Amino acid sequence: MRRVTTSAPGKLMLFGDHSVVYGHPCIVTAIDQRISVVVEKHEEHVFALSAPDVGLVEYKKPKNQLGLHNVPRGVTFLETLYKVFLDRYPQNDGIFVETKSQFSSSFGFGSSSAVTVAFGRALMELYEIPFVELDLFRMCYQAVMEVQGVGSGFDIASAIWGKTIYYVKPAKVVEPLEIESIPLIVGFTGVKADTATIVRMVEELKTRKPDFVQHIFDQIEEITNLARSAISARDWRAVGQLMNQNEELLEELGVSSKELDALIGAAKDLGEAHGAKLSGAGGGDCMISLGEDKQKIEDAIAMKGGEPMNVMANAGGVRVELCE
Ligand code: PMV
Repeated sequence: MRRVTTSAPGKLMLFGDHSVVYGHPCIVTAIDQRISVVVEKHEEHVFALSAPDVGLVEYKKPKNQLGLHNVPRGVTFLETLYKVFLDRYPQNDGIFVETKSQFSSSFGFGSSSAVTVAFGRALMELYEIPFVELDLFRMCYQAVMEVQGVGSGFDIASAIWGKTIYYVKPAKVVEPLEIESIPLIVGFTGVKADTATIVRMVEELKTRKPDFVQHIFDQIEEITNLARSAISARDWRAVGQLMNQNEELLEELGVSSKELDALIGAAKDLGEAHGAKLSGAGGGDCMISLGEDKQKIEDAIAMKGGEPMNVMANAGGVRVELCE
């Protein structure tokens, strides 16, 4: 029996949070924390899953009932992806999937998109379907939208293409930035954010105050475009200043939180960081900062109750690790 192992990276949004949902560009970097997936064909017509990281072992569902009944939270993305995959590439057998994550789903590193992408890539390899990034993107984006109903797909693109990309939804633009590394410092607030709720909150604000929100998004787009050039030029001081400007606009949108403000403030007050901002939807999860003295900034974050995260930016995208 053939077994395929794949892995896909988590991500951190650098610029363009929220505005990317409305067709503006963003910049996202893949991180060196990965989720791996092992697949093999199952002789029964079932979707069988073992995902100990989310407390699931021996989950099993007949193929003709995919997506029906109560689907546990940790399974939804994979079960939906499998359904989407079978609609496109019908198969006679079933599948056994095993997942393993290097990071907690609480950090906001995009565990759902990473595991979906890793599974999609593994299915393509197992059934010898030629790998085209955009095909995998479309399949995963459809699954994520079916589950979540909202989202720009930036996290899926990051898990597929990896590195640091300039992105416009839905993968209309995917432009890798030519850099080796980013002096990124990451602090976890300890609070898990609910992305879909915050995205809907912004949507509601946009309905109530369309001009106000549009003006913010236009400014974020300008900042994101300047950041694209500054990152490519490795001008980290300029990138940091742009981060601060992006953060101010996100605060105007009302998506920050007191925990995020405390950690961002700590990094900035120290005078060592080039800049700092929240990353992703806001409301919790992680903040990011740029600076050469990583240790000093991490200590300042820890002093304010944050948890410094040891992650490297600009990691590789989805890949096949092993075919046995
Ligand atoms: O909270 P995260 O890390 O999943 O990021 C959400 C980013 C948003 O722009 C707010 C939503 C999206 O899908 O782009």
